[in-house]
Amino acid sequence: MKKKVLLMGASGSGKTSMRSLIFSNNPASLTSRLGATIDVEQNHVRFLGDLILNLWDCGGQDSFMDSYLSTQRSTIFQHVGVMIYVFEVESRDMPKDLTYYRDCLDALRKYSSDASVFLLVHKMDLVKGDKGTQLERKRRDLQAESGDVEVTVFGTSIYDESLYKAWSRIVHTIIPNAAVLTKHLTTFAEACSATEVILFERTTFLVIATSSPPAPPASSQRALANGAATPGSSSTVVTAPTSPVEDVHKLNATRYERTSELIKALKHSCSRVREEFYALEMELPEFTAVLDEMTKNTYVLIVVHDPTIETAALKINIRTARQKFE
Ligand code: GTP
Repeated sequence: MKKKVLLMGASGSGKTSMRSLIFSNNPASLTSRLGATIDVEQNHVRFLGDLILNLWDCGGQDSFMDSYLSTQRSTIFQHVGVMIYVFEVESRDMPKDLTYYRDCLDALRKYSSDASVFLLVHKMDLVKGDKGTQLERKRRDLQAESGDVEVTVFGTSIYDESLYKAWSRIVHTIIPNAAVLTKHLTTFAEACSATEVILFERTTFLVIATSSPPAPPASSQRALANGAATPGSSSTVVTAPTSPVEDVHKLNATRYERTSELIKALKHSCSRVREEFYALEMELPEFTAVLDEMTKNTYVLIVVHDPTIETAALKINIRTARQKFE
């Protein structure tokens, strides 16, 4: 099953940068070297066996936008599963951005009336004042511009986990059996006596689904969210550094995405020393975590707070459950 995802927005709003970060694992620092996208660049990413995400990165220069909305209208806007529209938080020409957005929305409604719409208020790192207030104001404006079309708005930046968070939520809506996956993961968590189980897509490390767990103790959330790792051989044992006192509630909301970011950084470090990343084990006094391949396209992270549970047992459970998740 192929899901077409349109990535649209003004030139320079950051579309190719986010694609390069999430799908090609490039660091944010390299995005300034990206050239403008000419017409449409397509990407295919296989998610969970049959599901292929077909990403259309649509160059945002006016001449291309005009062409999408006229001669290429039906080609661009038909069979769309999701449209992601990117707005720069401090756009130089918001009225023009909004005119194009409304035209795209009209075309989408005509050719793909069931498509979901996600709006990214991007480059939030550039906001000087109160980011929350600014985002709320943008959210209200964009919702008003969208009329009766239901839209979901995220504030994002390539310099923090907000981008993973938005994309994980978007991908979650694309997966047809997300609820079933959550159910299976919850059963699997119970079988492992785990506090929680998280399923990541293999290339992007986007969060696909999680078990529905009781909230784990704050100390382990901090350790997981802040745990630095060193590259090693096939299996890497890491210890979490002492973390500064942070707002636990904030961490609760972002720890999965922080985990994605850290694992991608670890994979990057591994490739720099010509090692391949296979799996990860963390054995700390407060909890144990195992990250291992679940299927061809996914990794699973199991977090256990019961000190009597051995990591080897968790790995056997992963091996046993593999077939169920293929
Ligand atoms: P077109 O291909 O012309 O449609 O542009 P685009 O939307 O693909 O823009 P692109 O990804 O090429 O990004 C333009 C610039 O924005 C680059 O210099 C990026 O480094 C920068 N950029 C992207 N995301 C962010 C962000 O979150 N914060 C900041 N400060 N800059 C960003």
